[in-house]
Amino acid sequence: MPNPDPTQQYFEQTKALYGNELFVRDEKLDIIMEDGSLGPKSLSEYSFQISECMKCGLGEKRDKFVFGVGDPNANLLLIGEAPGEQEDIHGEPFVGRAGKLLDKILTAIDRSRGDDVYICNVLKCRPPNNRDPLPSEVEQCESYLHMQIKLIQPKLIVALGRVAGKTLLGLDVQLKEMRNETYEYTGIPLRVTYHPAALLRNSNFKAAAWDDFKWIRSFLEKN
Ligand code: URA
Repeated sequence: MPNPDPTQQYFEQTKALYGNELFVRDEKLDIIMEDGSLGPKSLSEYSFQISECMKCGLGEKRDKFVFGVGDPNANLLLIGEAPGEQEDIHGEPFVGRAGKLLDKILTAIDRSRGDDVYICNVLKCRPPNNRDPLPSEVEQCESYLHMQIKLIQPKLIVALGRVAGKTLLGLDVQLKEMRNETYEYTGIPLRVTYHPAALLRNSNFKAAAWDDFKWIRSFLEKN
């Protein structure tokens, strides 16, 4: 007798159990860790696992660990550099003046931080006096970002600012040289645009940033 078709077998078993209603499993695939164990099932579970991190010196100095915020199934993942003073106090990325501007930009592309957008930073803890992240801090923290990306599975990653772009791409060039090109980060398309704080400092950048966000909106509509 020929081997039964596994798909047909699955549907026959499902029908025997549940009748003619078809149930589709709306879940992302399990994440298997390097040691074979099962990875976190959700961002909230993962946040709980890592939020006491002391892998680098920033852990001792932080007020709050800033994991990230937004839609866990977002198509658009925005990545900044590191929490600043306000973010350290509130435990949420981009809550200061730059964050308010970012929210306005997201509204202009018909989204918000809870709707199809997730926001996090390369570093989860605030560097003293908002200095640039050190390579050793990035090295310790980057696996957290990788796991967030696996859990969210965004269609597009956007690095906000030169430091985030440089860190994710390993490219030490001016921001304007990073723009207008689609790269890949962990296999996912990545673009780089201005940090909202740079737009507050220099409004001449706003037109180019708006072009970038129009490109982002159209990419998400097409993919
Ligand atoms: N700047 C960043 O890069 N990230 C924040 O969360 C806030 C300001």
